Amino acid sequence: MTKITVLHASDLHWSESNSRDLSIVTNAMLADIEYMGKEHSLRPDLIIFSGDLAQSGDSEDGLMQAFEHFLVPLAKAAGVGTERLFVAPGNHDMSRDNVRSLPTINDALYGRLKDTDAINAFVRSAMRGAKEEVLAVDRMNNFYSVHDAYLGSISQTGPFFRTAKVDIHGRSVGVACLNSAWRATGEADDVDYQRLVISELAIDSALEELEGCEVKIAVHHHPLDWLTIADKETSDARIRSAFNLACSGHMHAARPSFTLDATGSCVVSQTGSVFAGRKWFNGYQFIEIDLPSGCYTFTVREYHDHDRRFDFATTVCPGGVVTLADVLPKDLT
Ligand SMILES: [Fe+2]
Repeated sequence: MTKITVLHASDLHWSESNSRDLSIVTNAMLADIEYMGKEHSLRPDLIIFSGDLAQSGDSEDGLMQAFEHFLVPLAKAAGVGTERLFVAPGNHDMSRDNVRSLPTINDALYGRLKDTDAINAFVRSAMRGAKEEVLAVDRMNNFYSVHDAYLGSISQTGPFFRTAKVDIHGRSVGVACLNSAWRATGEADDVDYQRLVISELAIDSALEELEGCEVKIAVHHHPLDWLTIADKETSDARIRSAFNLACSGHMHAARPSFTLDATGSCVVSQTGSVFAGRKWFNGYQFIEIDLPSGCYTFTVREYHDHDRRFDFATTVCPGGVVTLADVLPKDLT
């Protein structure tokens, strides 16, 4: 077997108050996954969820309910064990109450984290447990507490990333779930745009844990143009040069793409939201990675509310299927 099939979903925004409408769409999605396996032989080897799992990370309740009502049933429907389920946090998954309680620290960091050296120094201190730095990222505590309780086989290395290595058809696949939400405020009007940070140090530390993997997948909730100008410069280059696939969400729109510049190349899976309201675009996508050729085939699925079922997303690409090739494949042979 020289093909790896990824199911990529994002942006559920689970809340108890909306659970009835959410369940209508998620039940249709679970049925669609079984249908795609039977009728189109699309059976995922791993599942990636790229953030905004819950509507609010102010408590653990919504995050736990999202695992119970969606991610665990999703893995079961796809026939994938939870050791092959990977989740990165989104801006809705961190605690806005926490951010609002620390306005001075939050504002000061906009001025402090201006270049790669300053960002790396901050991340290094926080990873070592420095008090002030840890306080600035504890908006993530509810998310990682729930995440680690459900996905215990994934490395638990602080608030900036999680990694895991899995064997798929005899190939070692490494997944780095990077945290692009630890500098988010989650406030309205896209105030977080170009104010977020992943950090070179987080990416390099994750890559150290994935050393030796034949295929490397990065997961980050926000598209990279949401990072600060300095962090985009370094993080984008590191992801492009080291990963075979980068998966993101947040935009509530599906747009598979291929990106190439002098630093390297990468196929990017930006996926739509699983639930943005029943009458908006709701979808998810399969990515088949053909290892020898470096071809990535995206099958994009879209929910239709009139008959409560998913179909090929012809509004995204002709026939809902598109193949992209990485012209600079990294160890994919
Ligand atoms: Fe988001």
